[in-house]
Amino acid sequence: MKNQRRTALVTGSARGIGKAIARRLSSEGMNVAICDVQSELGEKTRDELRRHGCDAIFIACDVADGKMVSEMIKKVESHFGRLDVLVNNAGITTDRLLLRMSDEDWAKVIAVNLTGVFNCTRSAIRGMIARRFGRIVNISSVIGIIGNIGQANYAASKAGIVGFTKSVAKEVAARGITVNAIAPGYIDTPMTESLSEDVKKRLFDLIPMRRLGTVDDVANVVAFLVSDDAAYITGQVIHVNGGMYM
Ligand code: NAI
Repeated sequence: MKNQRRTALVTGSARGIGKAIARRLSSEGMNVAICDVQSELGEKTRDELRRHGCDAIFIACDVADGKMVSEMIKKVESHFGRLDVLVNNAGITTDRLLLRMSDEDWAKVIAVNLTGVFNCTRSAIRGMIARRFGRIVNISSVIGIIGNIGQANYAASKAGIVGFTKSVAKEVAARGITVNAIAPGYIDTPMTESLSEDVKKRLFDLIPMRRLGTVDDVANVVAFLVSDDAAYITGQVIHVNGGMYM
């Protein structure tokens, strides 16, 4: 019976938004695979989910590494017998004005944020096509839509996710697979805690709702997009930003 439950893989889910998504999908009764480069934290998250009755596993994997990703997908499919839901959430920032941005600053952010989405999606989609069911949700960003000073690499990676999402959505739409993106605004997580006070204030002033988003504001939308209620929604970018961009 265990293998009849839906299985979700959430990348970058040791902490932050990814962890909230993993927690939310497990509370919907799904098996969850946690993937992250931070093993200690990832194992802690896995144990938390297990304490709440979820059949969770942790796999240490760098999504930028195509070989590691294809091994990870094999492990998930052999452990749970299937992979139904992929949430491409892992992401990093290396902020610098363009004139000071090194080749490495550029390449690393593109490798994790964009090539990582490609690696995971290409590996996961084969089984989804065979089973004629799948839900893929890619975490983009409001910055990929409106841009931001000091984030040319990050904005390019997140805008790239939008084009990728729409193209793959068209390729697999007839196979029972939906592919959507979520573009969160300014969400309270360890990633945004590390921003300078100046940048935090500038971003906050752009939010008509006058509050930061929570990790659950994003997780709630993921839960909807992967549910049967969202079966006719594909190729969309859902903005979760308190009105920051309309
Ligand atoms: P976070 O930094 O708190 O969590 C990201 C997680 O991804 C960490 O656990 C990290 O270890 C993991 N990770 C990093 N590189 C990885 C790799 N190569 N392979 C596997 N895992 C890796 O960040 P947060 O805020 O939770 O962000 C999650 C996603 O949401 C990211 O894609 C981010 O760009 C996006 N986002 C966040 C916003 C925010 O305001 N916090 C706004 C818009 C988008």
